[in-house]
Amino acid sequence: MQSVIAGANPVFVDCDPDDGNFNVEKIREKISKRTKAIMPVHIYGNPCSLDLLYSIADKNKINIVEDAAEAFGSEYEGKKIGGTGRIACFSTYINKIITTGEGGMITLPDLKLYKKLKKINNYNFSPIRHFWHSNIGYNFRITNLQAAIGLAQLEKARETVRKKRKIFQIYKNFLKPVVEFFFPLKENYQGSSNFWHVAFRMKEEEYNMTKLRKLLADNGIETRTFFTPLHLQPAYRRPEYYGQFPNSELLAKTGILLPSGANLELKQIEKISRLIVRYFLH
Ligand SMILES: Cc1ncc(COP(=O)(O)O)c(C=O)c1O
Repeated sequence: MQSVIAGANPVFVDCDPDDGNFNVEKIREKISKRTKAIMPVHIYGNPCSLDLLYSIADKNKINIVEDAAEAFGSEYEGKKIGGTGRIACFSTYINKIITTGEGGMITLPDLKLYKKLKKINNYNFSPIRHFWHSNIGYNFRITNLQAAIGLAQLEKARETVRKKRKIFQIYKNFLKPVVEFFFPLKENYQGSSNFWHVAFRMKEEEYNMTKLRKLLADNGIETRTFFTPLHLQPAYRRPEYYGQFPNSELLAKTGILLPSGANLELKQIEKISRLIVRYFLH
């Protein structure tokens, strides 16, 4: 199976059921001579265990490209995601911590790579000769108008993350009696999530996501399930994958994302929480 754009073969690793991030220990088993890069996803804004990941990558001389689409403002060991000296890719789609409508950005460890990507981003135009392509390139630019919106968004990013973290704490307090598996679950955790999305998973035996989601929907509250694992997506579905990623499958069946917009008000969180408590205690 080949990823069409990069010409690379993706190799999947199961996630950890306690936070949905991929299990770093399991990466070791998947590394081969052909491994060029590891792509950790900081899922729902919650940072992966980067120290272990970086040490595995460095030992094997493999690059890291972090999918930080959801992790703007999150931190690992006191450093912002994107500021830890590796490559990190952020999304500025409309539902992200900062937005430009569509678009994104990359943080990079060195200037040489920056220059290379700036060229690829702009059709790989030669800097010397007009309309001359030194190699294949793409139009991945965002417009100046979008960039201006992004800069204005940056000014309020800290406040947005502060609000998101507070929203998580309020939900957690309301739902403590009924929800055991809030993300992230891990104790002595070195990361600090931006809580882009408030997420929890239901215990398997009490799982009835459809009922809970319907109850909320009937009261005008939209929720989302967790992502469908890649190995179950039509694009990547292969019989040899079945059963290999049980944690990802568990989360897809039992995980729920609650309304998490930064402007959510206390009374709205209270209403949502009351309904969830009612569902679990009925
Ligand atoms: C984890 C993750 N990776 C990648 C993307 C894609 O980002 P974009 O829509 O900016 O291409 C998203 C979008 O939500 C995402 O959540």
